[in-house]
Amino acid sequence: MKHNIAILLSGNGSNLKAIIDKGIKVSFVASNNPKALGLEIAKTANIPIYFWNNLTELEKEVLKLITEYDVKLLVLAGYMRLLSKNFVNSLPSKFIVNVHPSLLPKYKGMNAIKQAIDDSAKYTGVTIHYVDEGMDSGSIIKQKSIKINKLDTIESLKIRLQEIEHLIYSNTIKSILHKY
Ligand code: GRF
Repeated sequence: MKHNIAILLSGNGSNLKAIIDKGIKVSFVASNNPKALGLEIAKTANIPIYFWNNLTELEKEVLKLITEYDVKLLVLAGYMRLLSKNFVNSLPSKFIVNVHPSLLPKYKGMNAIKQAIDDSAKYTGVTIHYVDEGMDSGSIIKQKSIKINKLDTIESLKIRLQEIEHLIYSNTIKSILHKY
């Protein structure tokens, strides 16, 4: 696949790993967290890594890198900060995608899995969506639901949801890139 994506992450990088394993070309990985395990995954895969603690600086530099690497799609994979309006509006619409562990518009923001359990929801799931100026509010590209069992905990649900994320996020990214 000839089209480049770039990844923003803050944590473990299991979605990054799934994307790399799918053979999608990642031009660089950037993070607000220098200790993010995802940066190690990128390094092992010989993908250039960048990090900035300061979010204004991060956004400014990432915009430059997007042009430099000719990135076609910016993929949020566990990036735990809200992107500024200025950053989002500096890029074409439908340029940024995110994966979220709930059936949006339900349970936006942090702790989405806990929110579903606390709400005694019967179902939850994974949403892949475009990113706009709001929090988890951009248009939905794909959703997959799962049943919450009585014995489910945050941890057990997270494992099942991440299995789905790893499968459908990379497939969705691939099909978006095929349209270019
Ligand atoms: C994922 O569960 C995703 O839904 C959320 O952040 C988590 C990132 O996990 N946005 P990982 O860093 O890819 O393992």
